[in-house]
Amino acid sequence: MSPDEFVVTPYEVKGRIDYVRLRELFGTQELTPELLARLHQISGGELPPLLTRGVYYSHRDLGLLLDQFTKGSPFFLYSGRGPSGPLHTSHLVSFDLCRWFQKTLGVRMFIQITDDEKFWARSGLTREETAHWGMENLYDILALGFDPKRTHVFFDSKSIAALYPLAIRVARKIPYSTVKAVFGFEPSTNIGLVFYTALQTVPCFWPSWAEGRTVPCLIPCGIDQDPHFRVTRDIAEGLGYPKPALLHSQMLPGLLGEAAMSTTGDREDNALFLNDPPKTVERKVRQAFTGGRATVEEQRRLGATPEVCSVWALWRTRFARSETEFQEVTRDCKSGALLCGECKGKVLERVHEFYREHAVAREKVKDWAESTIVTVSPKAL
Ligand code: TRP
Repeated sequence: MSPDEFVVTPYEVKGRIDYVRLRELFGTQELTPELLARLHQISGGELPPLLTRGVYYSHRDLGLLLDQFTKGSPFFLYSGRGPSGPLHTSHLVSFDLCRWFQKTLGVRMFIQITDDEKFWARSGLTREETAHWGMENLYDILALGFDPKRTHVFFDSKSIAALYPLAIRVARKIPYSTVKAVFGFEPSTNIGLVFYTALQTVPCFWPSWAEGRTVPCLIPCGIDQDPHFRVTRDIAEGLGYPKPALLHSQMLPGLLGEAAMSTTGDREDNALFLNDPPKTVERKVRQAFTGGRATVEEQRRLGATPEVCSVWALWRTRFARSETEFQEVTRDCKSGALLCGECKGKVLERVHEFYREHAVAREKVKDWAESTIVTVSPKAL
């Protein structure tokens, strides 16, 4: 693979991604300053860093969704997680944004946990493992601050009775040739995965179907998930449902640097897992790839390169306490005033603090997590 080649599908991410080209390839729209300004106005407060710092950079039909919202038609949020193991901090990007939307606009959230998908996609995982990680991941997600009264979970293996009546209809609209082309399936691909995209579509239409009226949907997700929703959007109108709107984030660099990104989540040291003990967190950050220079002297003189740095990505996405702190870190990194060792020490304080708070919140959600799982179908057919 040459340096300017890359692959992005729900089942494979590799190479150095050119995000503008990816947007063109996928045919999505740019998240423009005008759209952000509209969101700012509607939210009536500050926009979250994930929006202002360009982590979310692309969308489909966000303008339309905001038009509908201002005309009095609230949307619901939908995002999900394939439970292949513990969550790491980069996985929080979509749920952090969802939580912000829910807090700010009071909208409903639907979370899909795909313990079936990951069993089909990863031959090394057992059913017990994907089911186990499904619940563990759910605790982590809910602990970010979702409202128990407005948050609903489709845990695929437990929620199938609620999903299936709609999945039947969705599946009939999707030809095999479409999934083969969109996901690059081979003759040896198991038929679970061939069917699976129907299940990822169902939550987009579920509230409209259950309530017998049009309920718009907004999906914050990594851009790698867009292919699923291209399929969804193609069949939506034929089934009488609105096309979901999407907000796409970039894929974040792993701690071992850009080149290792394709293995994020597989290689233990490439990410900060939420169940890592403090010592492990410390070790991973200390050895993380940065945009620093070969020597201290050079770095003082020339400054470092935040754009390629995995530690800067931590500041950018979650760990800077304020915009001022983020700007300071960025400026001092570029000027050479802040060396990588010191910067790592500072970010570690923030990371440890987050882990401590998160552990407390996580214990509390265990009381009600199970009750958010949707198990019954609102309709017999
Ligand atoms: N397929 C996703 C994964 O592998 C999980 C998922 C299900 C999802 N529904 C979603 C992700 C909706 C984003 C939005 O992690």
